[in-house]
Amino acid sequence: MCGIVGYIGKRNSLPILIEGLKRLEYRGYDSAGVSIINNNNEVKSCKKAGKVSDLEKSLDIDVYQGHIGIGHTRWATHGEPNDVNAHPHYDMDNKIMIVHNGIIENYKIIKRKLTQEGFTFTTDTDTEVLANLISYNYMKTNNFEVAVRLSLIEVEGTYGIACLCASEPDKIVVARKGSPLMLGISNEELIVSSDASAIINHTKNVMYLEDGEMAVLGKNGFQLKTTEDKDIFRNVEVLDFILGEVEKAGYEHFMLKEICEQPDTIQNTYRGRINFDTGVVKLGGLESVFDKLLNAKRIIITACGTAWHAGLAGEYMIEHFCRIPTEVEYASEFRYRRPILNKDDVVILISQSGETADTLAALRESKKHGATVIGVVNVVGSTIAREVDAGTYIHAGPEIGVASTKAFTWQIMSLALITLMIAGEKGTISKEEMINCVNELKKVPEHIKHIIDMKDDCKNIAEEFKNAKNFLYLGRGFNFPVALEGALKLKEISYIHAEGYPAAEMKHGPIALIDENMPVVFIAPKDRTYDKIISNIEEVRARKGKIIAIANEGDEEINNYSDYILRVPATINLFAPIINVIPLQFLSYYIATARGCNVDQPRNLAKSVTVE
Ligand code: F6R
Repeated sequence: MCGIVGYIGKRNSLPILIEGLKRLEYRGYDSAGVSIINNNNEVKSCKKAGKVSDLEKSLDIDVYQGHIGIGHTRWATHGEPNDVNAHPHYDMDNKIMIVHNGIIENYKIIKRKLTQEGFTFTTDTDTEVLANLISYNYMKTNNFEVAVRLSLIEVEGTYGIACLCASEPDKIVVARKGSPLMLGISNEELIVSSDASAIINHTKNVMYLEDGEMAVLGKNGFQLKTTEDKDIFRNVEVLDFILGEVEKAGYEHFMLKEICEQPDTIQNTYRGRINFDTGVVKLGGLESVFDKLLNAKRIIITACGTAWHAGLAGEYMIEHFCRIPTEVEYASEFRYRRPILNKDDVVILISQSGETADTLAALRESKKHGATVIGVVNVVGSTIAREVDAGTYIHAGPEIGVASTKAFTWQIMSLALITLMIAGEKGTISKEEMINCVNELKKVPEHIKHIIDMKDDCKNIAEEFKNAKNFLYLGRGFNFPVALEGALKLKEISYIHAEGYPAAEMKHGPIALIDENMPVVFIAPKDRTYDKIISNIEEVRARKGKIIAIANEGDEEINNYSDYILRVPATINLFAPIINVIPLQFLSYYIATARGCNVDQPRNLAKSVTVE
């Protein structure tokens, strides 16, 4: 949700900014822009609707030679994506340049005040108001840092910002409230960025800004402060991933790479956390709250989108194996519906990015009520990871494709581990069953690999259905979340309308949609609901719907009921969502590519949704 980057150091800033913007582009890709202090101490800016590559083509490199600059890639919130609304934004005198991720909620009030003071505006954006507010305060104080600080005291809403000032061309002022920001620190240069992807190629030494903090970056280092002007001292942290993880490694798309890397790296989620002889599961990050988990009267899982689907699978797992009442909530609803929470409740927040505004708001709401909050997060050091009482990283590595794939399977794996850890200690699972579970878990990477080897089957079916207008996905029990996730993946990247339903719910409404043009994907492994699923398939067949079955190898019976079959290895219900979602990830990928869609950057989406 918008990416910002800034550079100050000895090197020419433009190539570093452009490279950084390309890596951040998955966060937003409506428009992009840069402002640079050139070698004559003049500010040069350029911004364009479209991709970072469009911006790059339009830049006259000779004019943009300089060692300080800021850049932005946008996901529109206020004002349509066009050249004018792109960032950086400037004050009316072109003295202050700012890139911003977030929303200034009281911008209309500030705009009115500044208009009365004689300020004029050329865009529809909240960010331009902030640029002018800084300019207004600069006129009063003649001090860039102070002007930014006074302005931030006045604004309500969220921001990660980086600003330049033409009258103080030797610094960048950055600040954060609600939108992520980090500094990459090396001897001779500083890079500020929304996330590590723009930094990792230059340094592994980083510092995360917290809400209410700002920093002044100069050629000789930086000063970290609160927006109330109190100095802060914080240790530098070392990033633990490598550049290759944010590159395509020969795959055509990040999404394909991320689907295909699942068997190799899913072990990262459970490595060192399971004793395969005894079946004991131990997640070190949860030890401090383990008693709370064991004695929880209720567990509430909250998340958004794909992470919510993983949470739904978590509900099924925890209730089935741990016998603790569990609810799943959309984080966006949870926060605003006055939830009843108390000290004996445990809230599990699931988030790939660790920055989703709704999930973060749910976290803070839960804390306010004294509940114990636990994170299941991918991005190390992200805001949610830092604000929870305890948590477990899913260790999926950077997920760049906007449609979440490996994060979903890793989230489910993490929830399965949490389930086994609680059930093992509570004694709600027998020792034999526990050992059976961990033995099945060991097979998961091989199972996924096997499905990947058969991905051409998905491609062939995709070819058949690439022009479909609608899709229905149906599953039962642990596979209902898989149906939801399969449908979400398809609509996100191919723009085909798709719905996921519990298979038995179909007859309560969606059945009206079935005709010979409706492909229906049934997730139909040989589990205890198999016969019921077969009845649901019959109901669709009777109305001429086209059946695509996700079925177990060796299940011959399904041949009698399906038009197309995608085979998956059999597993236990705990791991069924992980295995059964893989063909659906491929199916949506191949349908989208057959339709010529940009799967890594689908329209209107952004990877990390940092606005409410
Ligand atoms: C779907 C997708 C989104 C995210 C959702 C939550 O492919 O990526 O639905 O799952 O925006 O994001 P995180 O997990 O970062 O909180």
